[in-house]
Amino acid sequence: MTPGQEAGQGWSAPYQADGYHDAGRPLPVEAEQLWEVNAGWWQEAFTAGADAEYEEQIIPLLARQLGSVRPGRALDIGCGEGQLSRVAAGVEGTRHVVGIDPTRSQLSVALERTGAWVDNGAGAGADAAGGDAAGAGAPRSGQSGATGSGDDGMSGHETGTVAGARVTYARASAASLPFADASFDAAFACLVFEHIEGTAGALAEVGRVLVPGGTFVLLLNHPLLQAPGSGWVDDQILGEQYWRIGPYLVEHHGVEEVDKDVWVPFVHRPLSVYVNAMADAGLYLTRMEEPAPPEGFLARAEEYREAAAFPRLLMLRAEKLARRR
Ligand SMILES: C[S@@+](CC[C@H](N)C(=O)[O-])C[C@H]1O[C@@H](n2cnc3c(N)ncnc32)[C@H](O)[C@@H]1O
Repeated sequence: MTPGQEAGQGWSAPYQADGYHDAGRPLPVEAEQLWEVNAGWWQEAFTAGADAEYEEQIIPLLARQLGSVRPGRALDIGCGEGQLSRVAAGVEGTRHVVGIDPTRSQLSVALERTGAWVDNGAGAGADAAGGDAAGAGAPRSGQSGATGSGDDGMSGHETGTVAGARVTYARASAASLPFADASFDAAFACLVFEHIEGTAGALAEVGRVLVPGGTFVLLLNHPLLQAPGSGWVDDQILGEQYWRIGPYLVEHHGVEEVDKDVWVPFVHRPLSVYVNAMADAGLYLTRMEEPAPPEGFLARAEEYREAAAFPRLLMLRAEKLARRR
């Protein structure tokens, strides 16, 4: 890297951000449609074994966290094409995983990759009657079903089986989870909350749908060390190498070009915003992990290895308290 080159280039986690959207430049599509248009990019670059950080770090980390609580019913918020829903289904003790995402072009691939069949409700309803309230069998009062009906070609419940556990996908947003209170033993969200507005509301929803004692696992691009503008600087004139941190305390809502012509919404928030909103939702921290980037990532470029002591990922694990403090 040469002096004067912007810190963060080639590093910003987990995608290579080239910069924030300039308000004067029209976006190729409406902001709400960005994930719909870019789902294929995500699937190609970050799923099905394509990404070292998922393979070597995120997947084992999540499996470990869920494995230690053996959740019967788990919710994957912002499931994308379902890679982590399928991981959760493989965890011992899991009976049913529900993945929700608002993006149709993620959910259609999730169904394909899970070998899902369309369950028009009988299965999920029967399951709910059998005491498993998770998933589309238990819509919140006033809501007709998890995906809603309409032109998306999906019925209320789309279910497959992975490692003996049921996996159901539903079209929904983190802002309003279409499930009854206390429907899940565990919930998790991976690289989702930094793309959405309304953290407090979405975390309140997590608190609502978890049973007392339930577990929440939140995986984020590390909000401190990966704040916008952060990155490894190798100043060859001054002979200094250091990690520059961008304006951490400034909440920033923008759209980032993360790859050529690939724009996604990004929100930077200080870590305290997440932790305090979780506490307000009755979700109390029990564990935090900041793993070093895995070998498969470091091997990709010399500057990655130089900055190996700076985590890209943050994991917060919380327990839903029976009573708010
Ligand atoms: C970076 S991808 C992560 C997908 C998946 N969690 C994984 O780790 O493979 C972010 C996902 O968040 C989803 N998303 C965007 N807005 C959302 C919202 N309001 N509620 C839930 N998910 C949302 C997108 O559709 C996209 O699938």
